[in-house]
Amino acid sequence: MEGLFITFEGVEGCGKTTQAKLLYEFLRQKNIECVLTHEPGGTRISEKIREILLDSENGEMVYLTELFLYLASRSQHTFEKIMPSLKSGKVVICDRYFDSTLAYQGEGRNIPKQKVIEINNFATGGLIPHLTFLIDIDVEKGIERIRERKGFDRMEGQNTEFHKRVRGAFLSLARENKERFRIIDGSKSIELIHKEIVNIVLNFI
Ligand code: TYD
Repeated sequence: MEGLFITFEGVEGCGKTTQAKLLYEFLRQKNIECVLTHEPGGTRISEKIREILLDSENGEMVYLTELFLYLASRSQHTFEKIMPSLKSGKVVICDRYFDSTLAYQGEGRNIPKQKVIEINNFATGGLIPHLTFLIDIDVEKGIERIRERKGFDRMEGQNTEFHKRVRGAFLSLARENKERFRIIDGSKSIELIHKEIVNIVLNFI
């Protein structure tokens, strides 16, 4: 049996990590076999690549290096962890996947979208999530949450204009892929958002 691949997307501080975790705990309680993972990272090798990507000292990283490192992390993650889990029938919940690459590297860094799609498909064997939650929130609000929580990493440290372009790109992606995306209002309470997500997922299973 094929499993179910669910991804969470959104700008910094939108709350998707919290929601991914809550969904994971909910499904576990229902005795549904699932895996909670994230990008960049998710495997030993991918976590090493993540460190390079997010290190604020790597300010001189050129955009194409950034793109290829995200994809290198994803290839390892996809083939080592995500695909085998799906093949064994599990639900895989992933905090960010390739829509982040389209939004951050495509729109944010101005790398042609078609190229990003092409090499992403090559890097992942064309794996596409069954369901993607876009937790949408005002950019300033999200950044404020991060400021309160911790310092900024290399990506979070980009200017507000950058993050606004990223948010716009996520919303366009959601509009262009209506069957896969669900847009969730990230300004609602954690409990309300969780309930909304659970209802959608239970309808899917
Ligand atoms: P992370 O700490 O996981 O941030 P968040 O909690 O917001 O998910 O760092 C991931 C960062 O990497 C985040 O700023 C988004 C960025 N990113 C890309 O630019 N491209 C990608 O393909 C992915 C997966 C993430």
